[in-house]
Order: sequence, then structure tokens, then C-alpha cells
Amino acid sequence: MNYQIINSFINKLDPELAHSLAIQFLKNFYIPLFPSKDDEILKTTVLGKEFLNPIGLAAGFDKNAEVYDKMLALGFGFAEVGTITPKPQEGNLKPRVFRLIEDEAIINRLGFPNQGLAKIKSRIETKKADGILGINIGPNKDSTSRIDDYVECFKNFHNLCSYICINISSPNTENLRNFHEQENLKKLLSEILNTKKYLSSNTPVILKISPDINDADIDMICKNILEFNLDGLVLTNTSVKLRENLVNKKKNEMGGVSGTPIKDTSNLIIKKFFKILKKKVPIIGVGGINSGISAYEKIRAGASLLQLYTGLVYKGPFVVRAIKQELGELLRRDGFSSLQKAVGVDSE
Ligand SMILES: Cc1cc2nc3c(=O)[nH]c(=O)nc-3n(C[C@H](O)[C@H](O)[C@H](O)COP(=O)(O)O)c2cc1C
Repeated sequence: MNYQIINSFINKLDPELAHSLAIQFLKNFYIPLFPSKDDEILKTTVLGKEFLNPIGLAAGFDKNAEVYDKMLALGFGFAEVGTITPKPQEGNLKPRVFRLIEDEAIINRLGFPNQGLAKIKSRIETKKADGILGINIGPNKDSTSRIDDYVECFKNFHNLCSYICINISSPNTENLRNFHEQENLKKLLSEILNTKKYLSSNTPVILKISPDINDADIDMICKNILEFNLDGLVLTNTSVKLRENLVNKKKNEMGGVSGTPIKDTSNLIIKKFFKILKKKVPIIGVGGINSGISAYEKIRAGASLLQLYTGLVYKGPFVVRAIKQELGELLRRDGFSSLQKAVGVDSE
């Protein structure tokens, strides 16, 4: 059956119900369909790890680390689970996820619903990843010290994954984005990196940034990244802006918009960070990838690795294979002998 037919059925379901059905299907029935070998040109080494291809599953799809093994088997080069908080939490009231079909977008205000550190940790311990696993961490909504929450998650997860992603950019946990301010960011990074040192951990630490920032914010964040020797960045999370050109009547629902409407802003932010950081700090580019060309644009903007979520919802699981094939063709068309050589060529 063609995915368009399946999708027209899925589009009639409540988006959260459709998502939990997809997770149940992947958990219980999914048999890896596309174990084909990745094109050599897509192979890359980032964060000290070798990635067979640069296409990753973005945070939020597998919040409770239930299906990352299946997503890796589907052809993703890496998967990021979470956001995980220390205590389990329900998240915001439903409805809280909206599909804007005409705009190929999603607006969500989930607010980190997840089963909490203890349960998810034991799940990951019993299901070692055959591939590269990132763990995305955040604070509980009612936390008295958000920094302590990040530190607790770091301590529990650092030796169970290939990298830790510190999420300071969800718009759905009140004031979380205040960690984009100089003093708060410094304090957070110094606590996490002191913990890392204390634990003699070698796990790379990367930071996930909002697209709703200005040039002064970018300069300040870059200074801190370099000062603290952070290992990488994820650019970007969802946006609370970028609603003007949307057509769906749900366009003003509160929350973060993802998908096609944030693609250009995310690319611009990647270019700006790359221009300052060059290849010293690798960037994982995310926001609106749904084809080989949109993946290639992000590589040329300065991303060494990529992630997607909304593109998977609209295009279905075959999109991963299609992106990899098109990306390989585009790199060869333009005379690049490797993915790495194309990183940032458009950022000058
Ligand atoms: C329903 C939904 C839930 C998400 N949850 C998280 C999350 O828990 N943590 C996080 O860092 N990003 C989360 N994201 C953001 C994505 O990881 C990604 O940064 C963003 O959607 C842009 O990529 P896309 O256009 O490919 O979806 C979520 C996105 C969506 C659509």
C-alpha cells in the first residue's frame, strides 16, 4: 500500500493517537524492511563517532526510548530519544498537537510528557543500541532547580549513550528558553561540565538551540560554546513565531511550529553559527527536512549531521531511504567526494 493512502487515513486520526499507534506498531510488529547498505559517500565522523549516514531521528518522536532500535533498523544513521526529565510527568492538557496539513507543519505544546528517568534508564539498559544513540534531557515543569535536573539526567545517562543533548529550547516549558541568556547559560554549562569532569566522562555534550534568537544571542552563545569546549549544537528546535505565511486555520495555536515553515530560518541560523564556529564545533541541522534537496541545503549551510521529525510524519518511513539516495546523488552531481567536503560551502 502506498504511504499516501495510509497517510490520508492517519490524517483523520487525532495526531497524538496516530503517534502512539505508530509507536505501538514499531514496538510490536515492525520487521526491518530496508537493511540496504548505506552509500559510502554519506559516511562521516562527527563527535568522535563514525556515522554510516548523517540522517538522524529528531528528539520528541521516541520520548520514552521505546523504538530507537527499530528506527535505526529503518535506516536512520542515529536516533535521539527524549526529552527525558528526572521525574515522570504528564505534560500539558490535550489537545496539544496539531497537524497543519496544507503547510506541511505541526504545532505542538506537549510540555515534555515522559515516563521519567528511572523507567527509561532501565529500558535503555536492557536494549543496547545497535547504532548511535543520543539522549535529550530537560527539567521537570515543577522543578525547584532546573540545573539540578539536567545534572541528575546527565549523571544517569552519560554512560548509556553516544552523546547527551541539553535541551534549553522547548517553548512549552515556561521560561526554559531563559537558558539562552548569558548568565543562565554559563551557570548551566559550568555545572554540567563540572559533573562530566567529576565523573571522568568522555560522552560528548551538545546543546539544542531555539530558532527564535537574534544575532547578538548567536554571538554570545558561540562565545560560551567555545569557552566551555562544548562538543556540538543542534540547530534548531521549534519556533513560536513564523506563523504569518501559514494557511491552516490552526496556525495560531500556542506552541512550537515545526516542518516546512521553519526550514529557511533554521538554515539561516545554521549558516550564522557556522560562519563563527567554522568546523570547530559540529552542527546537527534540523527543521523542515523532508527530501534530499532540503537535507543537502542544510549540509551546505554548515550542518555535519541532520535530523527530522515532521518530514517523517508527512512523508512516511520511506523518506529516510529517499533522502539518503537523493543526497548521495546531489553530492556527486556537484563533485564532492564526501559529505564532509560539502559542509558549510554556502555559509560564506
Ligand atoms: C510533536 C513534536 C514533539 C517534539 N518534542 C521534542 C522534545 O521532546 N525535545 C526536543 O528537543 N525537541 C522536540 N521536538 C522538536 C524536534 O526535535 C525538531 O527540533 C523540530 O520539530 C524541527 O524539526 P522538524 O521540522 O524535522 O520536525 C518535537 C517536535 C514535534 C513535532
